Amino acid sequence: MRLLVLGTAAGGGVPQWNCACPGCAAARAEPGRRRRHASIAVEAGAGRWYIVNATPDIGEQIEECGPLHPGPERRATPVAGVILTDAELDHTLGLPRLREADGVRIVATGAVRSALSAGLRLDRVLAPYTRLTWTDLALTAPEPLEGGPLEGGPLEVQGIRVSGKRPRYAVELPGAPGGDDAWVVALRIRDRRDGRAVVYAPALGVWPDELDRAIKDADCVLVDGTFWDDEEPRRTGCSSRTSTEMGHLPITGPGGTAERLADVPAARRLYTHLNNTNPLVDPDDAGHRRLAASGIEVARERMVIEL
Ligand code: MLT
Ligand code: MN
Ligand code: ZN
Repeated sequence: MRLLVLGTAAGGGVPQWNCACPGCAAARAEPGRRRRHASIAVEAGAGRWYIVNATPDIGEQIEECGPLHPGPERRATPVAGVILTDAELDHTLGLPRLREADGVRIVATGAVRSALSAGLRLDRVLAPYTRLTWTDLALTAPEPLEGGPLEGGPLEVQGIRVSGKRPRYAVELPGAPGGDDAWVVALRIRDRRDGRAVVYAPALGVWPDELDRAIKDADCVLVDGTFWDDEEPRRTGCSSRTSTEMGHLPITGPGGTAERLADVPAARRLYTHLNNTNPLVDPDDAGHRRLAASGIEVARERMVIEL
């Protein structure tokens, strides 16, 4: 399986348009430090890619990534669809940017679909431009990403609930039919040809046992690195809530994810979805060395990961 890291920043990106904090200012001065909104692309077959989360940067992210370019026919795109981990704006505002397509296939939970349909009214707004085709993301067992169990493509996918936090715009919505509460999931994507698997979890409100099971034999995990410690959002003034209260387990401190990741056997363990306040946006920050001592990396823009 081949993965392309299309972006590694939390909502706002680095730099964020209205922010002059040290991380944003440094990225403005040095374009090499810039991070686009967190997203990956996963190859589902020769020249067929799924983009995980449609960020506000999706157009630029596709342009910056050769394997995602259209051709050779004028309107042939290798982008086969979008898989969503949640309905947050930083992971979904890119959907309207795909409206030039005849249709867009979206794989998402019922809760995420209800937020986008009833909250953002995406189906209605985009109907005159393109057709959204929805596929329910499997939550109880892995299911083929494309086609049926026998004739389908090589990848299978499953969502693991990692938070019940709704996007702020969806707090008042009635919710999904049938009471689907899977507002935020981690994705486990496995290649049936060789058994290789990746777990992608850009938001982790909790770390359930089911996530441990999903990660146990994964070859690569990319997880929520929004904040270095729980107090960071309050200390830096970006929120009155702690990291945990915002739906993101911090990297360090009590309940931090670095300790857990240190024990995960996966060969590649990476943080992504970094907020611009996170000291790790500075490539010289000592945190990089501290994580590296446990074999943990910070995902870089346009990284290619071969599993
Ligand atoms: C999050 O990751 O918590 C959300 O993206 C926050 C936001 O963008 O408002
Ligand atoms: Mn986010
Ligand atoms: Zn900033």
